[in-house]
Amino acid sequence: DRSVKIAPSILSADFANFGAEIEAIEAQGADWVHVDVMDGHFVPNLTFGPPLVKAIRKHVRTVMDVHLMIAPVDPYIDAFADAGADILTAHLEAGPHIHRTLQAIRDAGCKAGLALNPGTGLDDVKHLLDMIDLVCVMTVNPGFGGQSFIESQVAKVRSLREMIGDRPIHIEIDGGITPDTAPLMTAVGADVLVAGSAVFRGGGVDNPGVYGANIRAI
Ligand code: DX5
Ligand code: ZN
Repeated sequence: DRSVKIAPSILSADFANFGAEIEAIEAQGADWVHVDVMDGHFVPNLTFGPPLVKAIRKHVRTVMDVHLMIAPVDPYIDAFADAGADILTAHLEAGPHIHRTLQAIRDAGCKAGLALNPGTGLDDVKHLLDMIDLVCVMTVNPGFGGQSFIESQVAKVRSLREMIGDRPIHIEIDGGITPDTAPLMTAVGADVLVAGSAVFRGGGVDNPGVYGANIRAI
C-alpha cells in the first residue's frame, strides 16, 4: 500500500558513510529519513547528537524525522531544531512535563511527535491530541535495531486510530517492521513505518538496488 510511508532508520546504516547512505535510500524510494538519537540514559545505548544531525541534514531531501530517546528533552530542543529536524519526537516517558515539551517543539518550528514505549498505555495521549502531528508507537523496547516485533501493540494501534479519528496525526510504527509484520500495522491504521534492519539488510551504497527491493517488500 503506497499511501503508507517508509522511513528507513539510519541506525542500521554505515555510520562512517551517512551522506551516501541517505542519498541511496532516498533514490531507492524512502519517503522519510528516521534518525535515532540515544543518550545512554533514557535508553541503554548511545548514538549521536545535534552536530551530526546538522551534518547529515544537507543530504536529506525528503523529511528528517528525528526520534529523541533522551531524557531530559527540553534542553536540547532548540539544538535539534537548528540542526534541521522537520519532525522532533519525544517520549511520553522521558519526563513529567510532556505537554511543555511538545509545546516547545512546535515553538521551535518543528512538527511534534509523541513516542510511546511498549509498556505505555493510551490514556495520557487523549489530552495531547491538539499538541501533536505524529504518534510513534514503539513495537520494540527502544535502544537497539534488529529486535523482534511485540505483537501486543497491534491492539494498541487499533485503539489509537479510533482515538485520533480524522485528525491530521500520523501513526508511525517503530521496531521489528518486516514484510511479515508491516501488514498487521497498516491494517489497523498505521501510515508511517520505520524500518532499520529490514531496509539495510544485504545492501550497501555500492549495491543500493537491494535497499530498493527491501523497501518495496515492506
Ligand atoms: C529502536 C529505534 C528504531 C530502530 C528500528 O530503538 O528507535 O528506529 O532503528 O530498527 P529495526 O527496524 O531493525 O527494528
Ligand atoms: Zn526510532
